[in-house]
Amino acid sequence: MHQGRTTLSKFLIQQLKGSSEQSDLAALLVDIAAAVKAISAMTAKGELGGVLGSLDSTNVQGETQKKLDVMSDTAFINTFAMGGLVAGLASEENDDIVEIDPGEGAGRFLAVFDPLDGSSNIDVNVSVGSIFSVLRAPEGRKPEVSDFLVIGRQQLAAGYAIYGPSTMFVLTVGKGTHGFTLDREVGNFILTHPHMQVPADTSEFAINASNERFWEPPVQRYVVECKNGKTDVRGRDFNMRWIASMVADIHRILMRGGVFMYPRDTKDPSKAGRLRLMYEANPMSMVIEQAGGLGSTGRERILDIEPGDIHQRVPVVIGSRNEVERIEKYHHEYDSGTDEKYTSPLFQERSLYAN
Ligand code: F6P
Repeated sequence: MHQGRTTLSKFLIQQLKGSSEQSDLAALLVDIAAAVKAISAMTAKGELGGVLGSLDSTNVQGETQKKLDVMSDTAFINTFAMGGLVAGLASEENDDIVEIDPGEGAGRFLAVFDPLDGSSNIDVNVSVGSIFSVLRAPEGRKPEVSDFLVIGRQQLAAGYAIYGPSTMFVLTVGKGTHGFTLDREVGNFILTHPHMQVPADTSEFAINASNERFWEPPVQRYVVECKNGKTDVRGRDFNMRWIASMVADIHRILMRGGVFMYPRDTKDPSKAGRLRLMYEANPMSMVIEQAGGLGSTGRERILDIEPGDIHQRVPVVIGSRNEVERIEKYHHEYDSGTDEKYTSPLFQERSLYAN
């Protein structure tokens, strides 16, 4: 038992004081934590709760929806509908934005979320999570899609919950990244990881290596160098991890460093990347950058991207600052033709990626 425990509510009251927008944001984050507790309870029941398995439906991404995807989405939507603080939302499970009935008065925030990320892991009892981002709603009118399409630097708050051996809630309101652990008996989130920091250097990378032949040369170069370890330019051995649950992979990186990559590839040329900008890349970039790390596509900072669509996909390279900067450098050298490796016939597929 922690001495002098700081609950999530106490923490938010301390961090978000001053304006009425700040205190409303604190209240919204407490609401999000309530939805997270509900999802945590559902996921923890597993097979006993009858919540595993797929539905017949697919989401806007064309992915088969799991029962828990839809139940988690509903948990968030119901919480926002009751809370009165959110005017509209966008989520992985809804093709279009959803307006929340204003009732007594319009909410001043927009919520964007992936209710259950990594859901291919649900049925095999591996950690999954929820990711959220909070934006400012327009004043005096209904929200429109364009109100959601703002650069990631404008997020008011972002974070995720991880449903692992313990449930944790990790958030930032732009004043560092902080982690809370759910005390299940009492039902409170307790501050257990204040001011989380991603080490600038790492010897661990995370990528789905089965896609190697589809990657761009700069990513191939980076991974080959890591795998060559001591025998090549890096001068030290690297370790690799891939949980296939972005939340769990990013959480590990937040705890001990590393670099997470889901780069652009040619597996499906119609997609700019696999992960979604608004409810995966942006919130995770804010969380990681507030902890001293960096979020990039390899060519630009994720938080600077002007979104064109709420379900837009982007390449993602997130984690320890020096590694992300190295990967950006490799992209730059490739694009500008200044790395002699790329003149080799090995890399003649370069034209596949030409903009
Ligand atoms: O949202 C998609 C997601 O499930 C992420 O959580 C995860 O990082 C990725 O897809 C896993 O992709 P793959 O199955 O290609 O390894």
